[in-house]
Amino acid sequence: MKGKTLPAIPAIYGGEIQLIIALRTDKMEIMIGRKLVVIMVGLPARRKTFLSLRLQRYLEWQGFRARIFNVGAYRREALGLGSSRSGFFNPRVKTFAKEREAIAKRCFGDLAGWLRENGDIVIYDATNVTSARRGYLKDECVKNGFDHIFVENICDDPEVLGNIVDSKINTSADYREEDPVIAREDFRRRIEHYRSVYETVDEGSPYIKIFNFGEKLEKNFGPSSLLEEIAEFLGNINLTEKNIFITRHGETLFNIEDRIGGDSALTAKGVDYARRLNDFFKGTDLVVFTSGKRRTIETALYFDCEKAVLPELNEIDSGVCDGMTYAEIASKHPEIDRGRSADKFDFRYPRGESYRDLVQRVKKAVVKIESRRKDVLVIAHRAVNRCLLSYFIPTPLKDIPYIDMPLDRVIRIYRKKALYGHESLEV
Ligand code: F6P
Repeated sequence: MKGKTLPAIPAIYGGEIQLIIALRTDKMEIMIGRKLVVIMVGLPARRKTFLSLRLQRYLEWQGFRARIFNVGAYRREALGLGSSRSGFFNPRVKTFAKEREAIAKRCFGDLAGWLRENGDIVIYDATNVTSARRGYLKDECVKNGFDHIFVENICDDPEVLGNIVDSKINTSADYREEDPVIAREDFRRRIEHYRSVYETVDEGSPYIKIFNFGEKLEKNFGPSSLLEEIAEFLGNINLTEKNIFITRHGETLFNIEDRIGGDSALTAKGVDYARRLNDFFKGTDLVVFTSGKRRTIETALYFDCEKAVLPELNEIDSGVCDGMTYAEIASKHPEIDRGRSADKFDFRYPRGESYRDLVQRVKKAVVKIESRRKDVLVIAHRAVNRCLLSYFIPTPLKDIPYIDMPLDRVIRIYRKKALYGHESLEV
């Protein structure tokens, strides 16, 4: 996170809850706060790792130094694939239980070291289904001066569950050398072992509970805008393998004159793009999101499907430069030109926005895109689309303002396991 991390201040809620106050100065965000451990809770195959990866991406995109520590990976590393068979997870076999605890503790030790030295937020990805294990984790967090939140992923819908188990068998490193039929049976036994000792997170602990991916969300924590945001994000994640398409509006008069900002209408060529875009998506079940600007709404004109105008997708606010050409900016405001060349991501237009500000605005649209269960087409603007794309496809923050984002192109973003891939399509 760019900015200055000030010394920890006393937490205002039982010493457990993250307090982050973002004070915006002209150049930077100052973070005052404690480090946070997000502790996943749930039976095996509840897609905790998937949620962890999505959350890590969302946080990193906002400039947090966030990392996942996965206890399963530590186990495989320490004990090999043999430790993946269900017998190893039998809670009544004391020697195995001890080995599992030792691995969980080692993983937490590494996590604490990383968080102290290098990080802002960590996600501890394991089942953590007993109060005893969670009590240990809570004590360690308190000892280290970290805040913590339990994220319990509860999934009992047989339809969702069937798919989850299958995809776990197909993708998990634990079963890569196993016959799928045998693996499925063994995996079910493993789940039953965990179920036999499962205790849900109680009211005395800070938690976010997610039921059947988006069906219901329960929250139990003190005032914290960061935790509110994490809850909102996780509560909107689902498992649908949809495409997300991103395009800019059709050409405008401002584009021809190289002017930035404004609210100009499409040219004849721009209208032609709007028509071609609609033809391109014929037969696709879509929802279309536009910004509040005329040029994106006009580009969506021919779509006969659900459409929503999201003002958070409006183009970067270029403040005193709105309506100017780049040449005019260079001659009238050379300091702005220099500022952008020196640090385009953090440079804020006077009375306008920076790319860093834009990420904070566009994240509202990200949650809306994630929540949908069908393909989404976003028709927006160059800077906004750069920010959006960089959420799905990890990009160093400072490179975001330079992502190639021409007119007349559609970028298709598709799920690749828990992450995303992308391709650029000509319309
Ligand atoms: O020129 C089109 C435009 O969308 C402007 O409205 C906006 O200010 C600009 O692109 C963003 O691109 P850059 O940050 O590279 O100037």
